[in-house]
Amino acid sequence: MGILEDKSNARLFYKYLSKVYDRVNRFTWTEEMRAEALSWLEFGDDPKVLDVGCGTGFATEGLLEHADDVHGLDQSVHQMEKAFEKFGKHDRVNFYRGDAERLPFRDDTFDVVWSSGSIEYWPNPVEGLRELRRVAKPGGQVLVVGPDYPHNPVLQRVADAIMLFYDEDGADRMFEAAGYEEFEHHIQRASPQSPRAITTVARIPEE
Ligand SMILES: C[S@@+](CC[C@H](N)C(=O)[O-])C[C@H]1O[C@@H](n2cnc3c(N)ncnc32)[C@H](O)[C@@H]1O
Repeated sequence: MGILEDKSNARLFYKYLSKVYDRVNRFTWTEEMRAEALSWLEFGDDPKVLDVGCGTGFATEGLLEHADDVHGLDQSVHQMEKAFEKFGKHDRVNFYRGDAERLPFRDDTFDVVWSSGSIEYWPNPVEGLRELRRVAKPGGQVLVVGPDYPHNPVLQRVADAIMLFYDEDGADRMFEAAGYEEFEHHIQRASPQSPRAITTVARIPEE
């Protein structure tokens, strides 16, 4: 398990990274990648949307282009303070401080559940994916962006020491273990030199 797959280490890491997150993150996770991921979702009329690991609100901003009823949850108050500066604390978005692996919502609450760049920090990603599935409505969608596993063996060793990286087989195993039946993966990257993201879009069966 990588050093950041520990909730208190990840919180400490984001206490400092939050100061520069919006400036540095744009090299690997761009507005174009966000727009492409959003295009794989069906929002329908008046959707209720959850952003798990919303951080400074980069993806939340994209979700607000498709929905008025948007909820964001993160375990780092430092990250969320940056989001409050953008959207207000109790205004356009309902924010919660909480844990992806224990979501404070009832079953079948959201039409779309989104989580970008957060699963790699969860000590038990299958439990987190189960939670995302639990709070999504039947017929709804869950979208998860994570870091694709590098091909180079040296980079693999570095990646494994830091946090969770996974390829399509790893994603299949996690999503199946969490009870998902219908899903597809997309590889995304900012430029040919950038690290790849693996984005999974899952459909929750109608009851
Ligand atoms: C790379 S940032 C992604 C932020 C945002 N989703 C985006 O697309 O830019 C990862 C976020 O996940 C949050 N996070 C990590 N582990 C978490 C957990 N167990 N529960 C909730 N949030 C978590 C971190 O605090 C951080 O804000």
